[in-house]
Amino acid sequence: MPATSLDTIVSLCKRRGFVFPSSSVYGGLGSTWDYGPLGVELKNNVKRAWWRSVVHERDDMEGLDAAILMNRLVWKYSGHEATFSDPMTDCRACKTRPRADHVFAAQKGRDPKGLAEINAAIEAKEIACPKCGSKDLTPARPFNLMFRTSVGPVDTGDDSGLVYMRPETAQGIFVNFGNVLDTMRRKLPFGIAQVGKAFRNEITPGNFTFRTREFEQMEIEYFVRPGEDEAAHEMWIEERTNWYLKLGMRKENLRVREQEKHELAHYAKRCVDLEYRFPMGWSELEGIANRTDFDLKAHSRSAENPDAVGELKYFDQEQKKHLVPYVIEPSAGADRATLAFLCDAYEDALVKEPPAEETAKLRELVESFARSAGRREGMAAEVKQRLVTTAESIAAGLPGTLPQLIGLMEDAEAATIEVMKKVRGVGEKIAEEHTRTVLHLHPRLAPLTVAVFPLKRNDARLVDMARGLKRDLQRGGVRSVYDDTGAIGKLYRRQDEIGTPWCVTVDFQSLEDQTVTVRDRDSMQQERVKAAELAPTFASRLT
Ligand code: GAP
Repeated sequence: MPATSLDTIVSLCKRRGFVFPSSSVYGGLGSTWDYGPLGVELKNNVKRAWWRSVVHERDDMEGLDAAILMNRLVWKYSGHEATFSDPMTDCRACKTRPRADHVFAAQKGRDPKGLAEINAAIEAKEIACPKCGSKDLTPARPFNLMFRTSVGPVDTGDDSGLVYMRPETAQGIFVNFGNVLDTMRRKLPFGIAQVGKAFRNEITPGNFTFRTREFEQMEIEYFVRPGEDEAAHEMWIEERTNWYLKLGMRKENLRVREQEKHELAHYAKRCVDLEYRFPMGWSELEGIANRTDFDLKAHSRSAENPDAVGELKYFDQEQKKHLVPYVIEPSAGADRATLAFLCDAYEDALVKEPPAEETAKLRELVESFARSAGRREGMAAEVKQRLVTTAESIAAGLPGTLPQLIGLMEDAEAATIEVMKKVRGVGEKIAEEHTRTVLHLHPRLAPLTVAVFPLKRNDARLVDMARGLKRDLQRGGVRSVYDDTGAIGKLYRRQDEIGTPWCVTVDFQSLEDQTVTVRDRDSMQQERVKAAELAPTFASRLT
């Protein structure tokens, strides 16, 4: 079962060094996150797997790494200066500033068709402030999401040095279309891939790394002849869906959603979202859009664009004429993909049954928690209902439901009920001894591939052999660590929790016959393998 609460993932990420709140020594900066030692390995593996799949394993793709800061005119002619904004309204009563389109959607049960419809609803007092309920809202105004900064040593006070922190990597690809075409002697269809940071002054960031103001995109612009765009679009929807599935994402947690006409960006003819079933619900992982010839035309010299130095077009040898290619854009988020793989891989599993009397005591406490939650005053009805139903079903299913109890013990709302302290006092110890947390990450994504342990850390022969094996594995291209800071059982659990697919233990038999024990994370099975065969064995499992 993948993680059912984002809090569980946030807590694991902080505890085990995947992701930390940014600038925490100064109290943090809202919705910004730093990837720790294991997080950076995981996210790098996600980006590497993407690059390998869309650049190295294809014959029709090139890579690019464009600058974040670009000429301001790029954003003028791409349409971002004029249209890349969210509609905000001010509540005159409580002085909050909610996103008007979200308020409209939540209260009218559908997305608005545009600013005019939102403002008509505000004027007719059909929608209200989500915080205080007042209908005294100002007309909604668009707030541009691009971060501004300036180039040059002197801040002139006007906009002469103004540049934007790019809000998408895509435009870096469009303005390099001609460079790549000419230097790489490409023929249509071909694509350009890029991974890099993007910045948006999101009004409502949140849900951990799902929506942040600084994030990384993995984008492809795939150029085709007009008329061949629809087939290429289908091809990329299939390719990209399969990429997630091949890396182990569960099929039932991934879906393809067709965007409705009114959701489409101004440049798109069609857009399909790949959505993941995150703990907070189905949400966008990647958008795959047909951007037509909008961008290449927008950056070409014309009556509408006198600033461009030339035209971004293609000479078709077969038809002996110039044409402007259409573009299919699979645009994924590296942070969102990383978060989705983490959620999907997460499991709390029962590994052995606790004694009956311990189970009975815990059941009594969980039942008592359910009764207290039901009686609790001042708690929202749906929260109360959720806690009661969850606790009752956990109590009925113990000890099989111990993994779910771990989720309840980490639930912030459950913690407000006094009995939870007693539940945790007993439950945490039982869970510690009888369950394990595992990240079933695909071996190519796991931050570490192998952990090597000596059976005894005070035996120099075991330690030397284990350290030597770690070195050999690392030289053979297998990401490995050495660890001797606990008993073997404890070390296994630590590696399970961070998703290391294999653990290698060096014992006394190893000294005699040069074999070691390899323990598999998912099956927990152990096998004896010749030490000399470890590096090629693991390397072959990673391909
Ligand atoms: N060039 C097209 C484009 O940027 P988008 O749907 O705005 O399209 C593409 O963004 C992907 O970038 C999204 O599917 C998501 O994975 C990621 N993304 C967008 N905004 C994000 C944010 N604020 N935080 C994290 N990831 C984000």
